[in-house]
Parts: sequence; C-alpha cells; structure tokens
Amino acid sequence: MIHLPAHLAIIMDGNGRWAQQRGKPRAHGHIKGTRVAKTIIQECARIGLQNLTLYAFSTENWLRPKSEVTILMRLLKKYLEKETQNLIQENIRFETIGDRSLLPLDILEALDASQAATQKCTGMKLIFALSYGSRQEITSVVQKMARLVESGTLKSKDISLETISAMLQTNKTPDPDLILRTSGEKRLSNFLLWQAAYSEFCFSTKLWPEFTKEDLTLVLQDFSSRDRRFGQLKTMESHEQSAH
Ligand code: FPP
Repeated sequence: MIHLPAHLAIIMDGNGRWAQQRGKPRAHGHIKGTRVAKTIIQECARIGLQNLTLYAFSTENWLRPKSEVTILMRLLKKYLEKETQNLIQENIRFETIGDRSLLPLDILEALDASQAATQKCTGMKLIFALSYGSRQEITSVVQKMARLVESGTLKSKDISLETISAMLQTNKTPDPDLILRTSGEKRLSNFLLWQAAYSEFCFSTKLWPEFTKEDLTLVLQDFSSRDRRFGQLKTMESHEQSAH
C-alpha cells in the first residue's frame, strides 16, 4: 500500500518548450498543458488525495507578452466554465490562492462561481495558485501584522510560527508534503516558500504536456518510500503517532 501525501503541490513547467520542440506556438503547449492538468486533477481525486495545489500562474508570469497572458487567462476561464460540473460530480472543492487584485474581472467572476458551486464538496480540495508569489504573500502578512501591532491589537512577542502560518492564504490547508516540478528544472520559483520548510521534492524530466497518470504513480511511489524525519530522529510513522 502506498502512503499518499496529504498535500501534493505541482509546478507545471515546460509547456512552452514542448510546443517549441514541435515547431508550434507556445499557446499550443498551454492548451495541451491544460488537458494534462485536467487528467492529473481527476486522477488525484480518484486515488483519494486530500489536497492538490497547482501553480497555474505566477506573479512573474504577468511579465510575459500580453498575448501569452491573454491565452493563459482564456484557458483558465474555459477550464472553469467547462469543468466545474465535473468537479462537483467528482466531489472536488475548488479554491485559489494569489493576488486577486491583479486578475481581470471576468476571471474573478469565473473563479468565484466555481468556488461557490463546489463549496459543499467534501472530497479533494483543488487549489489553483493564480497570480501567486510566495514572497508577495509573506510581505502582505508582514504588512498586516505591522498594522495590528501599530493599532495595539497584536503584541510583537505573540508573533510565532503559528500566527504567521495562520495569516497566510494557505491557512486552511496542511503544508505540502510533496512538491513536484516537471521539465527538469530544479527550482521553487517563488512557490510556497514558507510552507515548503519540510516538503519532499520530486523533479520529473518530462515536460508538463507529456506528463501522464503513470508518471504521477511513480512520483507517489517514490514519495511513499521516503523516510521523513522533520529534522528529528523519528521515522514518518512515529511522527504521525506523536501527532495524535
Ligand atoms: C509553464 O510552462 C506553465 C505555465 C506558465 C502555466 C501553467 C498553466 C497551465 C498548465 C495551463 C493552465 C492550467 C489550468 C489548470 C487552466 P512554461 O510556459 O513556463 O514552459 P517553458 O518553461 O517551457 O517556457
């Protein structure tokens, strides 16, 4: 039996290269990448994963040519419009993290509609990191805390690991046990920096559009075989026991 991560987070990288290798425009890679995302989301829900975060659009992605940003936004909207009913059927609850203030209104409406429609689903939680940057997320927590200290609502001595975690956008989700990045790159790229303190990492050399359910199984088997000690001498099993 394999031990699933409670939270898998994926950096879906390599759409552009995949398209370029085929002499096609980058958009072609994003279209195929969206289809692969759909397959992986369904597979994760089917095997009983509890939390899946997908890095769908980073803060830095806003700096890409406007035409590419438009295509990515259009694909996202189309995905939400087409797939929300399937998410409900698969009992998947949809949520997002990231800086909403930068997103266009029609995208915000589509995100809110999918979130509202799937709110009562009790199966896997699917989180899209959109317009997301971890340093920006941490900066906004620091600003919020500074305001609370200024107004006398919070004492600086009460700031702790727990109070910081509680103010991050990820506060209702366990930290990712496993972070997967495709395309052979071995970077975090401003993704879940605080939350990744004890994450395991897996790097696939496959480009995201060619990543398959079978590749996911191999990644999960690899994770399952790792001995996680959380900086201590304990094995994963004894960590879990002591957590109860
Ligand atoms: C990286 O490929 C991928 C992205 C910038 C965005 C990820 C988006 C998708 C997979 C499509 C949208 C997803 C959903 C779920 C609607 P890249 O363009 O950086 O590839 P490259 O490094 O080869 O250039």
